[in-house]
Amino acid sequence: RILILDFGSQFTQLIARRVREARVYCEIHPYDMSLAAIRAWDPRGIILSGGPSSVYDADAPTVDPGLFALGLPILGICYGLGLMAHLLGGRVGKAERREYGRAQVQIREAIGPLLPFGADGAAEEVWMSHGDRIESMPDGFRVLASSANSPWAAIGDPVRDLYGVQFHLEVAHTPRGAEMLTAFVRGVCGCTGDWTMHSYVDTAVAAIRAQVGKGRVIAALSGGVDSAVAAVLIYRAIGDQLICIFVDNGLLRFGEAEKVATVFRNYFQIPLRVVDARQRFLDALAGVTDPEKKRKAIGNLFIEIFEEESKRLEGVDFLAQGTLYPDVIESISFKGPSATIKSHHNVGGLPERMHLELVEPLRELFKDEVRELGRELGMPEEVVGRQPFPGPGLAIRCLGAVDEQRLEVLRRADRIVMEEIREAGLYDRLWQAFAVLLPVRSVGVMGDARTYEEAIALRAVESADGMTADWAHIPYEVLGRISTRIINEVAGINRVVYDISSKPPATIEWE
Ligand code: XMP
Repeated sequence: RILILDFGSQFTQLIARRVREARVYCEIHPYDMSLAAIRAWDPRGIILSGGPSSVYDADAPTVDPGLFALGLPILGICYGLGLMAHLLGGRVGKAERREYGRAQVQIREAIGPLLPFGADGAAEEVWMSHGDRIESMPDGFRVLASSANSPWAAIGDPVRDLYGVQFHLEVAHTPRGAEMLTAFVRGVCGCTGDWTMHSYVDTAVAAIRAQVGKGRVIAALSGGVDSAVAAVLIYRAIGDQLICIFVDNGLLRFGEAEKVATVFRNYFQIPLRVVDARQRFLDALAGVTDPEKKRKAIGNLFIEIFEEESKRLEGVDFLAQGTLYPDVIESISFKGPSATIKSHHNVGGLPERMHLELVEPLRELFKDEVRELGRELGMPEEVVGRQPFPGPGLAIRCLGAVDEQRLEVLRRADRIVMEEIREAGLYDRLWQAFAVLLPVRSVGVMGDARTYEEAIALRAVESADGMTADWAHIPYEVLGRISTRIINEVAGINRVVYDISSKPPATIEWE
């Protein structure tokens, strides 16, 4: 197994993800883990992450130089490289300009993590983001790769198995970076690469038990993948110490609320408390048209209801959340040596108010890894493969005022979209597809009569992570069927339009 020491890089979790992709177990620990603790943890190799500091900063995070004498292979990335060079007697200087973005490196010697490249002298595309650079190498090190700006872009001491790269090999912009990491963890460290999601379950279960002990955990299901996988995993760990609550806000898609209840009760036999709060949400949303006010109204009411429910329960100490790594990174703030990470999610604000400790078993995972984990836990494909759905639900897809009648129109149209998208075999290829109800009336003709009704916008996007997205090139025939069906089957709609905006500059949701 591989130990990753974190110096505060935004990409540390990405390093972990790449190591998992190489089928090797790893854990991230703060950079100040003691040598004794490292020895006890017994890694096969160590990766030092990048970080925002310069090794010359007064309070620059550092490690005990004894780390390099443990006899373990070590790979330093960016700041990790600078620190290693600095502590082993090399010279590190501030680059005149921060080097940032794509760069070419020339492979000088294909050994260690650069082994996959074989032919010396080959050019490789990499992604640089650093302020410091190596100016002279420590004794025993050799140049493995260089770039125009960094003569020592990758260095290594094959005798001690110490390697360092100036560039970020964990990001997708370094196309062959995953191969380099695999070469390090398998080739240099000798890990076998037989770790799977199956073993992740065991590790996560043990960690949840250790954290929770005999305590009680409360979980809020949203109907989405993340909260469902988190709940099933926690249930596997602590059984009935987990209490699942599902607040039916009336803002879910057609049939989804029933599906959540069925899957949990019948499929997993996990007891579920369903709170019917549909009317309360409608009341809270009455007359609200501003998107941010809608979100606030929904968030606040959710917290209120959740608090009421948990007051009925005795001795709850923990709150489960399906926070994923991308949720963490969006709200990350690294302040010097100690990372202050606060996660904001759909139930943000709850833990502080209720004095609950968070249980977040997914916070190191990415969406596709969560789906894989869900499958490993035996969850049905219709749950783990579900497209993302926003916490505020249909309220932010019902533009203008939200009332039961308009929600029902939207739900019907959206149901047709889903049916046709599935029927066409497009569901799994799309990040999201859904209907939006526009508060715009236009003139139409039906039979022999004039109509004057609202419009549905169809939104379908492809995306890897929701941060950027492209509108999907849905076949015209499918668009045609969706349009015909909505206009014929949904009373109150006489026009369907297709949204062809990408994100950015648009966003995926309309509000
Ligand atoms: P936008 O509209 O910002 O959405 O491009 C990006 C992704 O996030 C989802 N989304 C939310 N998810 N709570 C959530 O859990 C929210 O408040 C929320 N708002 C947007 C959206 O569906 C898309 O996948």
